[in-house]
This record gives sequence, structure tokens and C-alpha cells, in this order.
Amino acid sequence: MRPLANGATMRPSILVTGGAGYVGSHTVIALLEREGEYSNYDIVVVDNLVNAYSRAPNEKKPESIRVIEELTNKTIHFYPLDIRDAEGLSIVFENHSIDCVIHFAALKAVGESVEKPLEYYQANITGTCTLFEVMRKYGVYKLVYSSSCTVYGEPERLPLDEGHPTGRTLTSPYGRSKYFCEEIMKDLCTSDKKWMVISLRYFNPVGAHRSGRIGEDPSGIPNNLMPFIAQVAVGRLSELKVFGNDYNTVDGTGVRDYIHVEDLAEGHVKAIKLFQQPGFNGFHAVNLGTGTGYSVLQMIAAFEAASGRKIPYKIVGRRSGDIAANYADVSLSHRMLGWRATRTLDDMCADTWRWQSSNPNGFKKV
Ligand code: UFG
Repeated sequence: MRPLANGATMRPSILVTGGAGYVGSHTVIALLEREGEYSNYDIVVVDNLVNAYSRAPNEKKPESIRVIEELTNKTIHFYPLDIRDAEGLSIVFENHSIDCVIHFAALKAVGESVEKPLEYYQANITGTCTLFEVMRKYGVYKLVYSSSCTVYGEPERLPLDEGHPTGRTLTSPYGRSKYFCEEIMKDLCTSDKKWMVISLRYFNPVGAHRSGRIGEDPSGIPNNLMPFIAQVAVGRLSELKVFGNDYNTVDGTGVRDYIHVEDLAEGHVKAIKLFQQPGFNGFHAVNLGTGTGYSVLQMIAAFEAASGRKIPYKIVGRRSGDIAANYADVSLSHRMLGWRATRTLDDMCADTWRWQSSNPNGFKKV
């Protein structure tokens, strides 16, 4: 706790950048739901709202954060702020005794990143470096980073373990930005032993909070499979295009390791516990997946079963940059974090459907 001039102390805080977004908001609620473990901590969120909906222009908090406060009956300190704003970030570090940072804030649309590389490198790399500078200025060296299995590129072997080479066959500025940030964090850890960095490499996050009150709310037409299927099921979109059925997989369609977002969020909660281990330091990359891959057609069948709705689809050509299959070797996450995914494919589909059917327009009510 940081002492204040009047002799009182500030409560320790966990700073979550991008905490209003999909994985960020589920991590915030997971932290708040851990009564006892993190009840002494304040949760501080900074988010530039580029991908978050607020129900009124004068509403101080985006809808995802407002709903979490309602569900948990707790207050979240929220700053509408871009992480490239070093002065604004410094104010946050002045106002709170930040103990560790969970860094989600980034742009994440693979296709868009090919069209707007500068915007992606600005947001994801400049933003991340600015955050690290401010962390260093305030003596905060504990960091959980939101990385992606995209850093592995085209798999040389499956399942993908953390020792698999990274950065070799990346096809998008988005993927490269995640890879570059990992390299920057490795350099930081080499330069100063005070840094403790856990880079969580997500496989394919899907699903929603079991309440059905928060979930994935993509703006425009979704790029990813699960939100697309969900919007077809609810009638917002007419049919799914399946990108290729000539891959060397179980049924010819792409195979991915889908992981429930609540499991993923709990992985972050476990990761920050490592900071309490005596002697823990340096850079550590850890996969967060289930270890099991499902094809596009298997996902459609599972969603139809969970929702009771037919998902019309059409097979079209492959999407450029797609790989046939990837799934995680999850042994390191078991060993190091004491974490494993517990939710099934049926849970992922049922929870997505609960969110989508009760919020057909996402957080927007009309
Ligand atoms: N797919 C379709 N139709 C669609 C959307 C997707 O058939 O409309 C297929 C894809 O071809 C792929 C599978 O569904 O076989 C999953 O595609 P997603 O777009 O949902 O996910 P990706 O695996 O392509 O990408 C995700 C994240 C990226 C991350 C990548 C890492 O969206 O941010 O995993 O592998 F970089």
C-alpha cells in the first residue's frame, strides 16, 4: 500500500488496460468474483472505448463495466484513456497504488490490420511501449500480457507448445504486433531483473459470462466464427460462409482450439498469483487453450444443439492467411499456473447463445 501525505494508505490496485473489451471485461469480473483472494485490491480500468459501447454520451462508464458493477455490486475505477497518452496514464498511477498490470488494450482484427498497418503498430506497439515507460517510472514491474497463438504462425508441429518457434510465418500486422511486443518484453526482462512478465498466448476465446449479461459485442459484421454463427442463429445475419472444406482435417474445414472466455479469464487470475512466488522474475510465455481442436462443421453442429436453431451455411473458398489446424499443448499452464480449462464445447455454445439471444444487438438495446 502506498502511504499518503495525511498518513493514510492507498489500497493496492490491479490496472486492467482494455478492460471494457471482450476478454478484458470477463477478466475484470473474474477478479471481482474472487472474494477473499483479491478483495483487498481496487480494480482500475483504462480503455479508449474504440470497441466498447456506452449507452449515452454523458454516461461515464461503458456498458460492459456498468453491467459488471451491477452484477458484483462493486465499484470499478474507470478512465476513458488511450494508453498512448503518457500523461493521462501517469495520473492513473498517481491516483492509485498500482501493484500489477493486465494489459489487453490493442486492436485485434486480422484483416483490418493488413489495410491499416500503421494504425495497428501505433496502437499495439507504441501504446504498449508507452505503458511500459509509465510502469517503469512508477516502479511497477509486474505484467500479464494478452498475447495470441498467432505468434506461432504456420504450425511446424501440433499440439503447439511454448517452445515452438515464433515470428516466422506471420501473415498480418496484427500477428506481428503481438510477436514484436513479446520480443520487446523479453528485452525488458533481460535489461532489468525487476520485470516479471507472463505473456498469455490465447487460442480461440468464445462464450460469454454465465449470467448472459456480458459477452462479445463486435462492431459491424463479425470476422470470427463464433460471433458470426451466433448472429446467424439470432437472425441478424442470413447465412455463414465456411471458408474452405479441402484442408487436411477431420472433415476438411479449419480446426481450432476454442476456449471459454471464463476459463481464459481465470487463467489471468491464476497468472497474477505467480507474482507472489519468491524469486519469480523474467519473461514467461504460457498457452491458454483446452488442448482439443474442433472443426467449423463441428462448431456449427454444437451451436445448433445448444440453441435449437438451424445455422444455414455455404462452403466457399479458403480465407487468405488461414491455417488448417491449431491446438495447444496445455501442459505448461497446468504446471506453472495450476490452471486448466474446465468448460466444455456445450458450455461455450450455451453461454454464447444465452448472451446473444437475450442481447440480440449486443450491449446496444435498440
Ligand atoms: N471461419 C469460417 N467462416 C467465418 C469465420 C471463420 O469458416 O465466417 C473459419 C475460419 O476459416 C477458421 C475458423 O472458422 O477455420 C476460426 O476462424 P476465426 O476467425 O474465428 O479465428 P482464427 O483462428 O482465424 O483467428 C483467431 C483470432 C485471431 C488470432 C488467431 C490466432 O481471431 O485474433 O485466432 O490463431 F490471431
